[in-house]
Amino acid sequence: MDAKQVMDTDKQHYMPVFARYPLVLTHGEGPYVYDANGKKYLDFLAGIAVNIVGHANAKLVAAISEQAGKLIHVSNLYHTFPQTKLVKSLVDLSGLDRVFLANSGAEANEGAIKLARKYGKTLSADRIEIITAENCFHGRTLATLTATAQPKYHHGYEPLPQGFKYIPYNDLSALDKAVTDKTCAVLLEPIQGEGGVNIPDADYLEKAQQICHSRGALLILDEIQTGMARTGKMFAFQHTKAKPDIITMAKALGGGVPIGAFLATEKVAAAFAQGDHGTTFGGNALAAAAANTILEIIAEEHLMDNAQTIGEYMAKMLSELKVKYPETIAVVRGQGLIIGMQLNVPGKEIVNACLEQGVIINCTAGNVLRFVPPLNISKTHVDEVVAVLDGVLKKLYK
Ligand SMILES: Cc1ncc(COP(=O)(O)O)c(C=O)c1O
Repeated sequence: MDAKQVMDTDKQHYMPVFARYPLVLTHGEGPYVYDANGKKYLDFLAGIAVNIVGHANAKLVAAISEQAGKLIHVSNLYHTFPQTKLVKSLVDLSGLDRVFLANSGAEANEGAIKLARKYGKTLSADRIEIITAENCFHGRTLATLTATAQPKYHHGYEPLPQGFKYIPYNDLSALDKAVTDKTCAVLLEPIQGEGGVNIPDADYLEKAQQICHSRGALLILDEIQTGMARTGKMFAFQHTKAKPDIITMAKALGGGVPIGAFLATEKVAAAFAQGDHGTTFGGNALAAAAANTILEIIAEEHLMDNAQTIGEYMAKMLSELKVKYPETIAVVRGQGLIIGMQLNVPGKEIVNACLEQGVIINCTAGNVLRFVPPLNISKTHVDEVVAVLDGVLKKLYK
C-alpha cells in the first residue's frame, strides 16, 4: 500500500469519526515526525500531550522491547514486577494510597466515577450526584461523555446516565450552591485542556476541596492532560494546596503505550470490594514497563524543570507575537508546557498553514491554538515553531 491507498482505504473502512489530515506518518525521532513522502514535521502536539519523551526515545524503546521479550500480558489474576513497581511509584509521587490501572483516560475517569458512586452509597443511598464544569472534557464512554459538560458530545447518545450536574468553571459561588448532601463528587480538570487551556484562579482547587469536604463530597481531579510533569510538577494539583480524594491520569503515563490510572485515598478506595471493578489489559506488564520508564526519564532528565523553564520561554515568545499581532491574538496563557493562544479568529487556517510549513500544532475550542509538545524539547525547538507561526500570521493577517 502506498500513502494514497492508506488514505483511501481508511476513508472507505474506518468509522467516519475522525477529521484526519491527509498525512500518513511513518516514523519519528525526538520531537520530529516524518510522513510517507519523507517530509519532516516538528511535533508540538505530541499525540495530544502523550509523547512527553518524544518519538523513538532510545530508553523507552529498549525497555518496551526488553519487556516484550519477557512477558507482555498475563491478566490481572497474577502479580507482575512491572505493575507493582508502577503502583508503588504512583502512590509515592501523588501522596494518594491506592491505584487501579486502566487503558485510557476515559476508562480511568469511568473507574473514578464508579468508585465515587460506591463511596457515596456508603454515606447515604441517594448520594449519587457528580458535578462537573462547563467546557470540561472527560472522555467518550457513556458516563464520561455525560460528565463532559458540552452538549455537542451528548447529541445522539441519549438516554444519558443520570446524576450529572454542570456548573461554570472557576466559579466558587456556583460550586458552593451546587454541592449538596446528594453530591458524591465534584470532578474537575486542574486546567481545562480541550476546553481551551483554561486556567482557574490559584486558590480554586483548594477552595473547591474545602466546599466538597465540608459537605461530605469528594474532589476528583482529572490530570489526564495536565499530569506527568507537563505543568512543571508531576501533577498540576501539586502547584496548589488542594488534596484531592481521587486523581486520574493517562496520556503521557505510557509515553504512547496505552495506559491510564485512577488513584484514591485509603478511605475512599475502601468502598471497592473484590469484584467491584476490573479490566483485562489494564496495567499489563508491557504498559507498566513503559510507564516505569517514563517515570525514570522524567526524573533523570529533569523534565519537570524543563517543562517549567521551556514553558516560560515559550509563553514569553508567544506573548511577543501577541504584541506584534494584537488584532489576531487575544491572550496567551499556560502553565509549563501546556500553553494556549486564544485568537480573535478561528484557528483552523493557522494550524493548516503551520502543517504546510512542517509544524504540528492544533486548535481547540475553535479559536485556541494549543501547544503540548514533548517535555524534553529545547529553546531552539520553540524558536522554530515561533518563527513558523510568525510567518503564517504575517501571511494571513498582516
Ligand atoms: C482531561 C482529559 N480527560 C479525559 C480524556 C480522555 O482520554 P482518552 O482519550 O485517553 O480516553 C482526555 C483526552 O483528551 C482529556 O484531555
